[in-house]
Order: sequence, then C-alpha cells, then structure tokens
Amino acid sequence: MYRFQLTTTLRYGPDSLDELSTLDGRRVLIVTDAFLATTPLFGRVKEALRGAEVAVFDRVRPNPDTAAVGAGLAAFLEFGPEGIVALGGGSPIDTAKTVRKLALEQGRDLPAGLTVIPTTSGSGSEVTSFAVVTRADGRKLPLSSADMLPELAILDPEAVLTAPPKLTADSGMDAVSHAIEAYVATGCNDFSDALAEKALRLAGEHLPVCFRDGSDAVAREHQHAAACMAGIAFQNAGLGIVHGLSHSIGSAFPIAHGRLNGILLPTVINFNAGDLGWRPGDPGPVARRYAALARALGLTASGDRNLVRALIGWVERLRNELSMPATVSAAGVASADFLAAVPDLAAAARVDFCTAGNPVQPSEAELAGILRQVA
Ligand SMILES: NC(=O)c1ccc[n+]([C@@H]2O[C@H](COP(=O)([O-])OP(=O)(O)OC[C@H]3O[C@@H](n4cnc5c(N)ncnc54)[C@H](O)[C@@H]3O)[C@@H](O)[C@H]2O)c1
Ligand SMILES: [Fe+2]
Repeated sequence: MYRFQLTTTLRYGPDSLDELSTLDGRRVLIVTDAFLATTPLFGRVKEALRGAEVAVFDRVRPNPDTAAVGAGLAAFLEFGPEGIVALGGGSPIDTAKTVRKLALEQGRDLPAGLTVIPTTSGSGSEVTSFAVVTRADGRKLPLSSADMLPELAILDPEAVLTAPPKLTADSGMDAVSHAIEAYVATGCNDFSDALAEKALRLAGEHLPVCFRDGSDAVAREHQHAAACMAGIAFQNAGLGIVHGLSHSIGSAFPIAHGRLNGILLPTVINFNAGDLGWRPGDPGPVARRYAALARALGLTASGDRNLVRALIGWVERLRNELSMPATVSAAGVASADFLAAVPDLAAAARVDFCTAGNPVQPSEAELAGILRQVA
C-alpha cells in the first residue's frame, strides 16, 4: 500500500504574487533574509500585502541555525501573527516552517496559515514537511513534521529572476538530485515517478538557459515548476545517500548543498547500480530503475547497463554546462583535509535521516569509499 500526499495549494506563473491579497485584513509576519529585505521583490510583496498589518523578521542566515530560529520564534511570539509569509530560498522557508511548528507547540495558532514564496528553484521546501536546521556544534539537524507543510506556495517567476548564475546552478542541481534520488528511493511509486521524470525533463531543457540568461522568464517559470515537482516527488518517495553524504560533508566544509549533490550524484548512481563494471547480464533492480529514468529522458543505449552510464553522462554534461566542480577539491577544499575527515563523514552519513531512503543500505566502509572517490 502506498501513500501519496498533496497538501500545499500552488499558485504559479506570472503575477501569481497577487494571490497575497487573500491575506487582506490579517496580521502577517514576513520571514526573509537581510539581503532579500532590501530588494524590489520585497517591496512588491509588501505592496501585494497592503491590506494586511505586517511585521518583518529578516535575520535568517543561509543554512539557518538554532539561534536564528529562536530569534524568529521570539518575533512570532511578540507580534502574534495570524499568518506567516516566507520569502526566500530554502533558508527563510525552513526557518518559517520551524518557527510555525515551535509556535504551535507553545499553544499559538496560525489561522491564516503559512504562505511561501520561493526565490530559488531548488530546495522544494515549499511543498515538503522537512526543514534543515544547523545546531550550535555545526551538525545539520533534519526536522520533519506535518505541521511544517505550507498551506500555499506562490511560484512566481518574478521571484527568481534575480538569482545569480552560481545560486541558479547550485539550487538547480539540488532539484535534479531530488528527482533522481526520489526515482530510486524506497518509497518511490507511480505518482512520484511521474513528477520526478517531468522535473528532470524540464530541468534538462531549462536549467542551462536560466544559468546563461537569468532574465529568461519562460525558462525560469519552467525551472521553478521543476524544482517544486521534484520536491513533491521526494516528499512522498524519500531521498538517499546523495543527501545523507551531502549533509555530513556540508556540516564540516563550506560547500553549497546543491554543489555537493552534483559532485556526489555520478558516483552514487554507479554505487547504487551495483558498480557498473563491465560484467554481462542483468544488472539488478536498482540499475533497471536508473535505466528506466534514462529512457524517460530520451537517452538511448544498448542494454540497461549502458543506459545507466548514459544517465551518469547526462548528469556530468549538465554539471559542466553549469560550470560546477566534479570533485570536492575542485570545489576549493584541500584534499588532505577532506581525506582526514572521511571516517567521521561516513559515520555521520550512515545515520543521516535521508540514508534510510536509499535503495541499497550501504556500510560505513562503502560510504567512506564513495567519499574517497569524490575527493
Ligand atoms: N526543507 C527541505 O526540504 C530542504 C531541501 C533542500 C535544501 N534545504 C535547505 O535549504 C537551504 C538552502 O536554500 P537555497 O539554496 O534555496 O538558498 P538560501 O535560502 O540559503 O539563499 C542563499 C543566498 O541566496 C540569496 N538569494 C536567494 N534568492 C535570491 C534571489 N532570487 N536573487 C538574489 N539572491 C537570492 C539569499 O539572500 C542568500 O544570500 C539549506 O539550509 C538547505 O539545508 C531544505
Ligand atoms: Fe536537497
């Protein structure tokens, strides 16, 4: 028996920011970061909320930590909003989701709900019950609760037009990794497969355009939809060791989450597919799933093993088009430092929340092997 849940209402396309007027007459807390609070987009959001009484919490930091979440909760408790509007990438959205959850636990309610306006096309956080908060010791703490699902997500291409190329690439590769991991995760099903396939087809076509020309509103709109679809797919199917390893590396070294995922994806696909090698015969069920995904992307090759190789090639080509590094050292971390940390990173990845969704349960030694391959 499968379960597939769609909770968040989506408004998407040009001018969908106007939907904010449905919050007229309410007390609304806007949660955003200090940079976005200075942009014309923020002015546009406030203008659309003109019928509401507004307070702003703009002290979100990238990779939100427990201190920023605590400050957001204090702002909530002081203002007593009826609704929250989160404006930003995964960091403000995750902060707002966690603040809402903590406020509910303190007996507060939020009758006008949580509205999110993603300004990056990547995390899928607008449609997931997950949030990632960094603890004081630097470890990333994945949280999950039905109370964190936003009621409304506004996918307006205007909100992503200003994302610079590096952010577009990093968040875009995050979305690509969500779709590929969801497709083979333990909870995958026909519904999540459909969304993952479409998300990858859209990203393959539109993400490089967004990277080269951020002002292309049509490409932005499609990439925004792709990231959201990949979010719904992984919310229902789960993720895997690209994310388990990415969380552990990202806790120890300053490499963006999506950048790490792009580094890990080819090696993890090869590992999950049973180490492709050159053996003949049936490559097994996980490799057959990757081969099916390759076919859905229109890739052709003789036999499933070669189709998996073609899928790895597809990821590597996309990564090149986005000028992204192929190894941790190419991303700026000294090899010696990284290799010294491998045992700890493998141990943390083994118990990461996302690792449980991987189609193959890896040992710590196997995770260490993958880490050494991407050094
Ligand atoms: N909840 C989930 O399911 C989930 C999934 C994946 C990642 N995440 C989390 O999301 C966070 C990463 O989020 P992110 O990559 O979307 O970025 P982010 O929110 O961390 O923002 C990164 C930087 O980009 C800037 N920025 C954002 N949008 C912009 C725009 N349109 N124009 C110009 N600058 C802009 C921000 O001001 C910030 O400086 C991490 O904390 C990660 O752990 C959560
Ligand atoms: Fe991610």
